[in-house]
Amino acid sequence: MKTPPSHYFSDVAFRGRVFGVTGAAHGIGESIVLALLEANAFVLLLDKDDRELDRVKRQLGDKATEIAEFAHVDVRNHQDLRSAIQRTVDRWGRLDGWVNNAMYNPGGSVEEEKYEHFVQAFEVNVFAGWNAIRDCLPLMKSSGGSIVNVSSIMTGQAVSRNAAYIASKAALDGLTRTLAVELAPLGIRVNSLAPGFIRTGKDSEKPIERAYNDILYRASQPWPFEGTPADVAGAALFLLSDLSSFITGSTLVVDGGLSVELPLLTDPVRANAAEQLLKLEHLKPGNR
Ligand SMILES: NC(=O)c1ccc[n+]([C@@H]2O[C@H](COP(=O)([O-])OP(=O)(O)OC[C@H]3O[C@@H](n4cnc5c(N)ncnc54)[C@H](O)[C@@H]3O)[C@@H](O)[C@H]2O)c1
Repeated sequence: MKTPPSHYFSDVAFRGRVFGVTGAAHGIGESIVLALLEANAFVLLLDKDDRELDRVKRQLGDKATEIAEFAHVDVRNHQDLRSAIQRTVDRWGRLDGWVNNAMYNPGGSVEEEKYEHFVQAFEVNVFAGWNAIRDCLPLMKSSGGSIVNVSSIMTGQAVSRNAAYIASKAALDGLTRTLAVELAPLGIRVNSLAPGFIRTGKDSEKPIERAYNDILYRASQPWPFEGTPADVAGAALFLLSDLSSFITGSTLVVDGGLSVELPLLTDPVRANAAEQLLKLEHLKPGNR
């Protein structure tokens, strides 16, 4: 069991501060929410999945509605998004940080992919974030703030059949850099967080999936342990806290070294090739 991210911050780092997190009912978003709440912040949770949002609420117990605001919202609906932000500000009178974490990844080849799905990826992954940031501005202008856009290491490396997701996440990174420059004079920092391979559905895996994923997630990157939502939450808390007060416009990679590794002989195809090469050792120039 890892130490929770809140453990590494002083008691006053987040106490009484107010944050909003989209895609808050599952995976990385949920982990960021729990870490912020453990650090004594107040949090607005936005998610379109009613069942999961209710699960998080139940998990927080009696104090849930005291420390958190729950918004059953599809972030594509700007009116609902704006109302949730307004409700939060009316309640706590401030907004210190915002995490654009909700995502849509239709997957599929460029030939299969539907135009509407491509548009939807941009609506969820980019436009909703842009709307949220604009709605946060009037509140953050007076006291400053920190915005975290959850991107992906895939913006630097391509994976086939993911065009809508990767193109939209790259656009989100563009938004991060531009707004970091534009909003710096207002004391508002904007950063991207780029997770690698993070195991988010562990609790709902079937035993056979679990056995497979135990190996897959551990072996996917140089770091010999799997990436967990709490690993990303720790980095998010760093970016939301004053510890990162001189950091803006950056992309913080949380991937156990995956994105800097040269794949050479490590993936199955290449490992297989390596095996074949060994068998053909005698044919190597100089050995003949
Ligand atoms: N898990 C990974 O390996 C990984 C890797 C790289 C980047 N990321 C990024 O991290 C973020 C979180 O990913 P995750 O794996 O925790 O996802 P997840 O699927 O576990 O959770 C996403 C949450 O967002 C909510 N959501 C989706 N669309 C929404 C919408 N339109 N409105 C409101 N809520 C919506 C879902 O209901 C869900 O609760 C995403 O931005 C994702 O692109 C994840």
